[in-house]
Amino acid sequence: MTDIKLLFCVGLAVVLTGVGKSAFIGKSHSGGKDDPVLQYVVNNSLREHPVLTKLRLRTLEDQWSIMMVASEQAQFMANLIRLINATKAIEIGMYTGYNTLSMALAMPENGKVVACEIEDTYVNIAKPFFKEAGVEDKIDVRHDIAMKTLDALIGAGEAGTYDFVFIDADKFNYDRYYEKSLELIRRGGIIAIDNVLWSGRVVNPDPSDLTSQGLDALNKKLHKDQRIDLSMLIVGDGLTIAIKR
Ligand SMILES: C[S@@+](CC[C@H](N)C(=O)[O-])C[C@H]1O[C@@H](n2cnc3c(N)ncnc32)[C@H](O)[C@@H]1O
Ligand SMILES: *[C@@H]1O[C@H](CO)[C@@H](O)[C@H](O)[C@H]1NC(C)=O
Ligand SMILES: *[C@@H]1O[C@H](CO)[C@@H](O)[C@H](O)[C@H]1NC(C)=O
Repeated sequence: MTDIKLLFCVGLAVVLTGVGKSAFIGKSHSGGKDDPVLQYVVNNSLREHPVLTKLRLRTLEDQWSIMMVASEQAQFMANLIRLINATKAIEIGMYTGYNTLSMALAMPENGKVVACEIEDTYVNIAKPFFKEAGVEDKIDVRHDIAMKTLDALIGAGEAGTYDFVFIDADKFNYDRYYEKSLELIRRGGIIAIDNVLWSGRVVNPDPSDLTSQGLDALNKKLHKDQRIDLSMLIVGDGLTIAIKR
C-alpha cells in the first residue's frame, strides 16, 4: 500500500474504533453508522440521487472505501454550490467520484467540475457512474498529479474564475493545494478542506505525527489568514469552509 493510503488508514481507523475521545467525529458509512444521532441526521435529511446511492454501494466494496466523503457532507457541499450559483468547481482527490458526481448534479447545464485523480483504478470505477447519471459532459477528469493539473489551469489563464474547490487528496500537499486554490478561486468563492480534525489528532499533535502537525499548522494559518472568512465544522472528519474575500 502507498504511504498516502497508509496514513489514511491509520488516521481514520481511529474514527472507526472511536479511540482518542474523537467518537463524535464519524462518517455515516463507516464508524459513525453506530451513532444514533448521526443516523437520525441521515434518516431525516439525506436526499441521495439514485446513481449516487449506486456509486456509494459500489465504493463500499473497495478496501479503501473509508476515503469516500460522507453522504451528508457531500449534500452540504452541493447545497453550498447551489447557494453561490457555482458553475466551475475543482475536486482535488476524486477517488471513485462520489463528491464529484454530487457537485455535478447540483450544477446547471453549463456547470463544469475538474476532477483530479492519480489512480486509474478509481477513474475507471467513477466514469460509468458519471455517464449513467447523464453528467459526463460536466466532468473533466484529469488523470494526473493534482498539482500539475492546478498549475495547468493557472497557466491556461483560469486564475480567479472558479467558484468552489474541494481539497481532499494527500495531506502532505494541503498547504500548497490551499494556496493554488486561492489563486484559482474568485472573490466570494469557497474552498472546502476535508479531514481538518484528522480524527481529533490535531489537538496537541504528537511531535512524531507529521500529518497531524501539518494539518494543525494549516488550521492555525487559516485562522489568521485575512484573505478569507472561515468556519471549521465538525462534520465527517472535520471540514473547513474558507470564503475568499
Ligand atoms: C480521500 S480520497 C478522496 C475522496 C473523494 N473526495 C470522495 O468524495 O469520495 C483521496 C484521493 O486522492 C488521490 N490522490 C492522492 N494524492 C494525489 C495526487 N498527488 N494527485 C492526484 N490525486 C491524488 C488518491 O488516489 C485518492 O483517491
Ligand atoms: C434510521 O433508519 C433506519 C432504517 O430505516 C432504522 O433502522 C433506524 O432505527 C433509524 N434510526 C434513527 C435514529 O432514526
Ligand atoms: C443565483 O441565481 C439566482 C437566479 O438565477 C439569483 O436570483 C440569485 O441572486 C443568485 N445568487 C447569487 C448568490 O449569485
